[in-house]
Amino acid sequence: MKNTIIAPSVLAADFGNLQRDIEMINASEADWFHIDIMDGIFVPNISYGMPVLEAISKHAKKTIDVHLMIIDPDRYIKTFAELGANILSVHYEACTHLHRTLQAIKAEGMKAGVAINPHTNIDLLEDTINDIDLVCIMSVNPGFGGQSFIENTYTKVRKLKDLIIRKGASTIIEVDGGVTNQNAKQLVEAGADALVAGSYVFKATDPIATIADLKKLTTI
Ligand code: DX5
Ligand code: ZN
Repeated sequence: MKNTIIAPSVLAADFGNLQRDIEMINASEADWFHIDIMDGIFVPNISYGMPVLEAISKHAKKTIDVHLMIIDPDRYIKTFAELGANILSVHYEACTHLHRTLQAIKAEGMKAGVAINPHTNIDLLEDTINDIDLVCIMSVNPGFGGQSFIENTYTKVRKLKDLIIRKGASTIIEVDGGVTNQNAKQLVEAGADALVAGSYVFKATDPIATIADLKKLTTI
């Protein structure tokens, strides 16, 4: 039986009631907190930064999965470790020396993740896959919550799963963007291990029940 990791994206939370929303995730069947950090340069939006993550960390009782959508992420690896990140993902497109960056993340005691944009081919991970703990396949163009899911993602998930098996790697496949009950099961069947869901969870009338439904739907 496959128990899929559900990672609500805090970007879609009510920032005026952040502690309440963090406690909601603590009490739910969700597995991770997904934290989107944007710099307004790598992506055309600015989300939140260190002080907000520090506040989230204070209350969060589950794994903290940080998704950096920033240029030159090496500058902040140590800072994110100190702020409580358990998994730190950098963008393939933002790293000149990806292999070195992955080693630096692991040296700080975190799992090392690589996020790839919709246009980035899975084949580009061939030489680093054994060094990557998690690949975050973007199923929307990063920068905003609430966008529509890109259908080509299923093909990418299958291709990545094949690469992982062929290379004997133990990399987790995460899918991020536009995840709902309409695509969750199919993504898991294609090979996804972790699903990020922002608006679908937080805009629901009953987020706890929505998380439970996603969990049930993706236990296959
Ligand atoms: C997009 C972010 C996503 C986003 C997902 O740049 O990386 O994590 O918060 O939000 P939804 O689920 O609303 O697409
Ligand atoms: Zn994200």
